[in-house]
Amino acid sequence: MGGRYLLRTFGCQMNEHDSERIAGLLESDGYVRAEEAAQAQVVVFNTCAIRENADNRLYGNLGHLRPFKEANPRLRIVVAGCLAQKDQGQIQERAPWVDVVIGTHALPGLLELLKRAETEGPQMDVREYTEVFPSALPARREVAHHAWVSIAMGCDNRCTFCIVPLVRGPQLSRRIGDVLAEVQDLARRGVVEVTLLGQNVNTYGRDLTVPGSSRRPLFAELLRAVNDIEGIRRIRFTSPHPHDFTPDVIEAMAESERVCEHIHFPMQSGSDRILKAMQRSYRSERYLSWLSRIREAIPGIAVTTDIIVGFPGETEEDFAATLDVVGAGRFDQAFTFQYSPRPGTPAGTMPDQVPKDVVQDRFDRLVALQESISLSRMREMVGRTAEVLVEGVGRKGGVQGRTRTNKVVHLGGDLAPGTFLEARITSAHPHHLVGELVRVTGVAAAGSQREPAAAG
Ligand code: 5AD
Ligand code: SF4
Repeated sequence: MGGRYLLRTFGCQMNEHDSERIAGLLESDGYVRAEEAAQAQVVVFNTCAIRENADNRLYGNLGHLRPFKEANPRLRIVVAGCLAQKDQGQIQERAPWVDVVIGTHALPGLLELLKRAETEGPQMDVREYTEVFPSALPARREVAHHAWVSIAMGCDNRCTFCIVPLVRGPQLSRRIGDVLAEVQDLARRGVVEVTLLGQNVNTYGRDLTVPGSSRRPLFAELLRAVNDIEGIRRIRFTSPHPHDFTPDVIEAMAESERVCEHIHFPMQSGSDRILKAMQRSYRSERYLSWLSRIREAIPGIAVTTDIIVGFPGETEEDFAATLDVVGAGRFDQAFTFQYSPRPGTPAGTMPDQVPKDVVQDRFDRLVALQESISLSRMREMVGRTAEVLVEGVGRKGGVQGRTRTNKVVHLGGDLAPGTFLEARITSAHPHHLVGELVRVTGVAAAGSQREPAAAG
């Protein structure tokens, strides 16, 4: 087909990875990337539905595109991702200039839908389920040394605030052999760091059996197998759910030297009453005891978390419990969110929605506490040396990279992405460190940036 495409991505890593596949599909059909809407023949919004502000942003963006479509009726506008799944036909009702609405399970059919839109007008595919894991899609990766690797789609949990199970469907795990084949292929292409992606990586494999047996593959087993792949130097994963966390995962992390010393361990609330209302089956004491076990088994591990403030019915006492657990947990970083009611979720219609000003006040207090903890955690690094993998140019010049513990480090100089180095940490800020180069320890072999995905 050919032409230029503009792709904008909102939301989580899962969406970033889906966007790599969208870009890969378009490029396999001859499209090249555009820098702005005025040059593009296809504009794709890969959307997020997790909080309400994402909805507003999409409709705002579609409004901006309207004059472009009027000036160039051949421009094709695509809405993909979780909001496409959530809003379905409403999108083309509100913005009739949208050509294709494509849900999270329909991605492999994107080129076909675009072609059909040429002759038949607006298209929509928001199928609710795919039986086969769509592994065989090409991906256009932004950097040569790192790759996202999807290990499961969807989620079988029902956290009462969360729209993900409604838009991404039940869990569908990818066969272990397909995951390993993709990582091997990536390693051959010069990728040195992989991030395994799933809504709840601990339940990976629950819907599969190991070939030739009736046993289910386990996440710990997958971690160990990825650890054995030659060429991969850093393995990350996101996210585990504290409810399904098991000792074998801690053991696998501790014993697999390429698995990085970082875990994202979403807590959501420190109040047991609120955790129950959220349908998160652990309680704060158990959460903290997991943290201790993880830290004992993997010395120096960084822990990050997600916390929601203002869940329906949250009292000042509940919020104080969250502050207490945050104080006790001493997270390296926390992603803090103001609760946003989502249509179709049980919490969306719960009574006692907390007034906005109360939520804002609690949010500010939580952020202030966490910033001070993050800063003190970062300060523990000052004077030490750490391995840094360079990711790209820093915001203030120089380069930016990450430690194995996922801390951002800014350094002076000009080093290629994919360079491993030893840095001495000279100063700390709540969200990043500053360091100086001690010595370069390795460079990832520059691979091709665009590749067909592994078979499977
Ligand atoms: N409101 C606010 N935050 C939410 N999250 C999920 N759903 C909501 C919601 N309705 C947060 C959770 C989750 C992270 C990805 O987003 O903390 O872990
Ligand atoms: Fe949402 Fe809970 Fe599933 Fe995470 S585990 S995606 S928060 S329902």
